[in-house]
Amino acid sequence: MRILITGGAGYIGSHTAKMLKEQGHDLLVYDNLSTGHAEAVQGLPLVQGDIADGERLAKVIKDYEITDVIHFAASSIVGESMQNPRKYYLNNVVGTISLLNTLVACKVERIVFSSTAAVYGEPGNNSENGLIEGFVTAGVTEIAKQFATAGQTEPLVLNEDCPLKPTSVYGQTKLIIENALKDYSRAYGLKYISLRYFNACGADDSGEIGEDHQPETHLIPLVLQTALGQRDKIVIFGDDYPTRDGTCIRDYIHVNDLAQAHLLAVGYLREGNASEIFNLGNGEGFSVKEIIRTAEEVVGRVIPAEVGARRSGDPAVLVASSEKAKKLLGWKPQYSELEKMIVTAWKWHQNHPNGYSQK
Ligand SMILES: NC(=O)c1ccc[n+]([C@@H]2O[C@H](COP(=O)([O-])OP(=O)(O)OC[C@H]3O[C@@H](n4cnc5c(N)ncnc54)[C@H](O)[C@@H]3O)[C@@H](O)[C@H]2O)c1
Repeated sequence: MRILITGGAGYIGSHTAKMLKEQGHDLLVYDNLSTGHAEAVQGLPLVQGDIADGERLAKVIKDYEITDVIHFAASSIVGESMQNPRKYYLNNVVGTISLLNTLVACKVERIVFSSTAAVYGEPGNNSENGLIEGFVTAGVTEIAKQFATAGQTEPLVLNEDCPLKPTSVYGQTKLIIENALKDYSRAYGLKYISLRYFNACGADDSGEIGEDHQPETHLIPLVLQTALGQRDKIVIFGDDYPTRDGTCIRDYIHVNDLAQAHLLAVGYLREGNASEIFNLGNGEGFSVKEIIRTAEEVVGRVIPAEVGARRSGDPAVLVASSEKAKKLLGWKPQYSELEKMIVTAWKWHQNHPNGYSQK
């Protein structure tokens, strides 16, 4: 049994590869290094290649006797996807369909796919009752009502049954693959698990691998780069939302908790269970100001911040319900406190202020 990890030189892939190795799994990283880093693949076999190169991939699958695939490889910057959709349809859709065809041809039977909360889009408020339109589904209703009773129009705990209305090309490409997986599973017997991550953050406790995206678009690394003096200030996009401190609330999930879920997903399919879709989030939600305040406590200095205009389409609150993953996979996140997430990220940023390229 050997697992192929596409995109294993990237942020989440490298943490998953490290954890799989530590837990005794055989694996191989397959990555074209377009946004990944060879240094992130510590002591693990790495083949440099593209998911769309079917011939090369088929040879690798045969040579290494691959039985399972965890598929992280993708382009994943929302803003870029709107400006350059061709890149996203080519890499995330055409590339992944090519990968699926290779897996079917090589008789690989299981795949775990990196999907995203972006498949849900940006739900709007229904001002009549303070609930989010279309999101008052089983399991969500009670939570939504509590928010409404508290005088907030913000709800949002998204479960897997919520409507799928991606507003970005990036989200759209991931949804296309979720749907393709259903069809490939039905027609060719390829078993899959699609994992919809919310905002990945943090780094491995070792401080040796972490988040190094160019350009960086994620809040926690931007805040920590500001703490390191690499940016002048952090801009808060709006502080007049109906939330506890006026800034947007999002769900952050530690990268090692995501890694753990991938291990469980592989095991779940190997046990013969049916294909599934799971949210992976913390279920709690932290505001932009809470992130900055906690980061200040962790780094022990003031982090310059400035309030700017709202970004269009930013919902006040987006929080995941991960009850299904906890129940079916037995997933137990270990890094749910914001402080833990930021402490691990800070260790990485301090050790590698310029990312992998320079220590
Ligand atoms: N980071 C997040 O918060 C987040 C949230 C939701 C979903 N995701 C998804 O998780 C996955 C990993 O995200 P990440 O943050 O680690 O991104 P990343 O850019 O750090 O990693 C992606 C990896 O895939 C490789 N890659 C890209 N295209 C390839 C191709 N055609 N062939 C081979 N390798 C290729 C890159 O070189 C890189 O190593 C992505 O699919 C992303 O869409 C990430």
